[in-house]
Amino acid sequence: MSKGKFYITTPIYYPSGNPHIGHCYTTVACDSIARYKRMQGYDVMFLTGTDEHGQKIEQNAKAKGVTPKQYVDEIVEVFKKLWKYMNIDYDRYIRTTDDYHVESVQKIFKALYDKGYIYKGEYSGNYCTPCESFWTDSQLDENGCCPECHRSVKQAKEEAYFMKMAPFADRLEKLLTETDYLRPKTRALELVNNFIKPGLEDLCVSRNSFKWGIPVPFDSDHVVYVWVDALSNYISALGYDNETFDDYDKFWPADVHMVAKDIMRFHAITWPAILMALDQPLPKHLAVHGWITFNGVKMSKSLGNVVDPFILGERYGADAIRYHILREMALGADSDFSNEIMIKRINTDLANGLGNLVSRTVAMVDKYFGGTLPEDREHGDFDDELITEACALREKVDEYIDLTQINKALIEIFSVVSRANKYIDETMPWVLGKDETKKARLSSVLYNLLETIRIVSTLLSAFMPATMPKVFEQIGASAEEASYDNAERFGVLPLNVTVKKGAALFPRIDIEKEIDALNEILKSSAPKTEEKKPEHHEGKKPEGVAIIGIDDFAKVQLTTMKVVSCENIKRSKKLLKFTLNDGTNDRTVVSGIAQYYKPEELIGHTLIVVSNLAPAKLCGVESNGMILSADCPNGDIKVIMVDDVPAGSTLR
Ligand code: MSP
Repeated sequence: MSKGKFYITTPIYYPSGNPHIGHCYTTVACDSIARYKRMQGYDVMFLTGTDEHGQKIEQNAKAKGVTPKQYVDEIVEVFKKLWKYMNIDYDRYIRTTDDYHVESVQKIFKALYDKGYIYKGEYSGNYCTPCESFWTDSQLDENGCCPECHRSVKQAKEEAYFMKMAPFADRLEKLLTETDYLRPKTRALELVNNFIKPGLEDLCVSRNSFKWGIPVPFDSDHVVYVWVDALSNYISALGYDNETFDDYDKFWPADVHMVAKDIMRFHAITWPAILMALDQPLPKHLAVHGWITFNGVKMSKSLGNVVDPFILGERYGADAIRYHILREMALGADSDFSNEIMIKRINTDLANGLGNLVSRTVAMVDKYFGGTLPEDREHGDFDDELITEACALREKVDEYIDLTQINKALIEIFSVVSRANKYIDETMPWVLGKDETKKARLSSVLYNLLETIRIVSTLLSAFMPATMPKVFEQIGASAEEASYDNAERFGVLPLNVTVKKGAALFPRIDIEKEIDALNEILKSSAPKTEEKKPEHHEGKKPEGVAIIGIDDFAKVQLTTMKVVSCENIKRSKKLLKFTLNDGTNDRTVVSGIAQYYKPEELIGHTLIVVSNLAPAKLCGVESNGMILSADCPNGDIKVIMVDDVPAGSTLR
């Protein structure tokens, strides 16, 4: 009998380039949760797909001499191939170019207009002509230029539709602060302080500077803003406002939307506001994870640090990759990808931990009993501890899955694997095997190991779906025996169970050789062309920096300076104007941290300044240097203070 419904979604991916390992995380995580929930007996809907409209797609297609649809069709196939390769078992795949989705989005847009939430107005702001994009003040880069191409922007106006956001502000604040919608909840404050408290700006929900989008139903000069188009996928895919599907009443609201931090705001503010305006129930949870980074920098094609999941999968198998990324990423934090950490993790947890446990146990049943255990048993030391831990495991994993903390679920599972390996050392079956009078004890020890393996691998089958059936085969467990229902009890395998030796589950990898080989591959696969972020992404700092030599670093002069005065710049919500003293002279520096600090909090502190930066004008004030601050994993910005270092010191 079904335990109820469970609806989980990934973001829909932007098919502007081939997917990389960074794209895999959310999909593998959602797939694992979906599999776990199915195993528990839930009726699951797992949705993924592609977000296919927007100016960048239009431009990319033009550059290739194909239509936008032809362009996305090709890349969508690569996404689908990757998901197949990674054993992603989605229930539905949505493409925003699908007719039913277009129909839903147009109806949603019209409904919002009819309810009075959408109105026609004028979009005015900072316009970057080469990128054909408007940017808000807060999206501009440090020099007040376009965050995409870093050229100067001009003030421009365009007719556009807007959605009123103010009516939803109170409810949104409550959603973020008083419910457990947002995970981790620590990020709620940053959203409330940065976007809701200063007054939610109305959302511009149409564009008329390009054509590749869903036409506004009552004004064909405009296309629907890609985020309204994209977010609606979560309900159009269930049949909201279309006849193609009929699962909306059954599956909505979503149980989990999982996204990475760069698109949190759209899911924490824009999406709930749209649903509120439509009078629809809100999703239950938004799980936000960090990025997979490479040497601390977000993976991106333009940096040549993209890790190709097909290449890794060929070398270690899709399950090892799935395990590694799931185990490394903690909810809310970034996770740095390194070949070395990955190989060590595969060797330690999978080859030495689980793989060894299975192969040693099966080999001993084979060696001492010809593959079939006798039915005699003798209880002994250490048994109770192992059995108790193994039987308690399922409940712990259940809890972590419900909290979308997959890495913690895996830690629990692998602690039982370690416990079982320790049990082998404690009970020393090779000693028991030499003594004819200890056969019953030996049989018990091996049976306890097989049972522990059964429980562990049943639970792991949601995370490593290709490998666990091989384990079941080796330990002689039927599908029924290796079911979720049987994963919290011991004594399920028959006493006279027969095992079947098989190949090593995860062959050990020679670290040095492998790292050399991977570095070679990475070098040769670094792309020659620049990848640009799609136009509907938040303007933000460039995604990373290229690797530099020491000579490049030496060009940057870092000096400590004391804050003499600090004030807000009237025309800007973002900028603070500082007078800084380097022990001898004063200079003016402008910094975009007004949303994080009040001026008085900084006066008197000693900060680190890039002191040889070329002057730049920001909001009419000339800035002579840049104050160093840290982008913290929780989204906060912290200025680096070095109050115990005298002003005028040089950093090296
Ligand atoms: N199309 C929008 C999402 C619309 S959802 C209604 C989009 N697409 S995207 O392809 O650019 O990104 C999809 C997801 O992949 C985002 O959550 C993004 O943060 C995530 N990732 C892209 N690179 C990543 C890493 N290196 N690490 C982890 N996640 C990464 O945004």
